[in-house]
Amino acid sequence: MKKTIVFILFLITSTANAQQSASIVGAGKTVDPYHYASVKSVTFNKAVVASAHPLASEVGAAIMKQGGNAFDAMIATQLTLAVVYPGAGNLGGGGFLIARKSDGKSVALDYREMAPAKASRDMYLDKDGNAQNELSENGHLSSGVPGTVAGLFATMPFAKLSFKALIQPAIDLAEYGFVITAHEAAALNSTKEDFLKYSSQPSAFIKDQPWKAGDTLIQPQLAATLKRIRDNGSKGFYEGETAKLIVEEMQRGNGMISYDDLKNYTVKQRTAIAFDYRGYNIISFPPPSSGGILLAQMLKMIEKYPVGSYGFQSAKSVQLMIEAERRAYADRAQHMGDPDYWKVPQKTLMSDAYLAERMKDYNPNKASVSADIKAGTIHESEETTHISIIDEQGNMVAVTTTLNNSYGSKTVVDGAGFILNDEMDDFSIKPGVPNMYGAIGGEANAIAAGKRMLSSMTPTLVLKGNKPFMVVGTPGGTTIPTSVFQSIVNVIDFNMNATDAVNKPKFHHQWLPDEVMVESNFSAETKMTLEKMGYKMVDRGGIGRTELIKILADGKRESAADGRGDDSVAGY
Ligand code: DON
Repeated sequence: MKKTIVFILFLITSTANAQQSASIVGAGKTVDPYHYASVKSVTFNKAVVASAHPLASEVGAAIMKQGGNAFDAMIATQLTLAVVYPGAGNLGGGGFLIARKSDGKSVALDYREMAPAKASRDMYLDKDGNAQNELSENGHLSSGVPGTVAGLFATMPFAKLSFKALIQPAIDLAEYGFVITAHEAAALNSTKEDFLKYSSQPSAFIKDQPWKAGDTLIQPQLAATLKRIRDNGSKGFYEGETAKLIVEEMQRGNGMISYDDLKNYTVKQRTAIAFDYRGYNIISFPPPSSGGILLAQMLKMIEKYPVGSYGFQSAKSVQLMIEAERRAYADRAQHMGDPDYWKVPQKTLMSDAYLAERMKDYNPNKASVSADIKAGTIHESEETTHISIIDEQGNMVAVTTTLNNSYGSKTVVDGAGFILNDEMDDFSIKPGVPNMYGAIGGEANAIAAGKRMLSSMTPTLVLKGNKPFMVVGTPGGTTIPTSVFQSIVNVIDFNMNATDAVNKPKFHHQWLPDEVMVESNFSAETKMTLEKMGYKMVDRGGIGRTELIKILADGKRESAADGRGDDSVAGY
């Protein structure tokens, strides 16, 4: 009897060891969770992943080395981010994937969160009709029905490896832990009180002593959830034990998400937005993101001006770009929302005639005033994360995924170990009342059961001569489309390399509030000139975390991970 037990124990341990040794994650292995560093810019020969965390980029690159393509890498990278970058990487959020396959076909997957069936237009108004932003920004009631896991499975038909292989690195990192960066330690410490306030139980993110760089974060509940997804597919999240844990968490905190909401979640295939800018073909994300339309509007509004000759961040080029940004964002507030609930006049908003009309009152010597710039008339019946990938065959994949702000609702699903989003705040909770990004909206983006909240996420691909040229995207709330806009202009008009395009100071105007936000290293001289022209200039912290891959004339992949965070590239 004793011998049998010993033998069984031996079998269990040796199987576990064998699994461990097959893993790419572990001390001294391809992906070493205890020793890693950010790599900011490398020109690779064949394939590259740029993401918000070194371990996630390393996993993605290793998956491609094992024979996976850019879609395999994307799935594995997103799952890894859900473990190693809990502020934005997620199982409890949503996102958009835009891709161009090596055969030239494009893919646009919408796995944005949906409003629960019980959600309603005025759910965040008190009895006097005042908006209660606190409820849409934090805690159980701020969460939309998560879409990420469904999105990963909707990506699987384009992948080559098994889902089991793609999820294993994330499981290992959650189960055995990884050391955290100084950024992560600081962010966890500053969110501790919120986690305690908005979660019904303590979680792996809470400990007595403050977190410091080099501490190991182990997430056993998250590992168990990932294993249920590995073993049961999408149902491992939207049904069974995980669904039960989500609904129980909702019940403890007056949230709304039900079993049916989870079971009924659907990914939507959208038609990518495609347009030309100075001979380059740009592919970006359509509604329910505002990103692709805004990007098209801004680029097309400046296209007839010789921006390159104005000089990078000269008052002349910045002023033109600000005025394009202002006008595009005025349209966002009025015309954009979930296309399944609101007729978005996409064609008109992007048409040359309409955009020429929008710029008719543009004065190169003077600031326009947002109060005078309304949305165009249509005559027609800070936390998110971005991943850019290109593989050896030329498949280009860009995903921006989000919990909304840092650590989302700060509600951790007890027993399941992941954080839920606070994406409901992206709806217009009351016409004219700004959300956490200062964005206002109205009917187009009002709350309704099952509706998807308007996003700014702008995962974008650029082709030159019908060949891959750039993969780009960033987090940053409403600053996302302007950051992508400026990164593209930096490369196309100002001939910048990937690193400069990403790291040079950015600016942002979103119609309302009527001000230009600039990063602190923005040119002081340009700032002064613009102030004299009537612009209100406001300093702010870093704008975005852009991940950009530029494909050079010889086919090499020049990559840049944003210097503003732990972002990192990996490839070969
Ligand atoms: O979908 C959106 O537009 C926002 N929820 C994105 C949030 C974001 O980028 C926060 N990151 N800093």
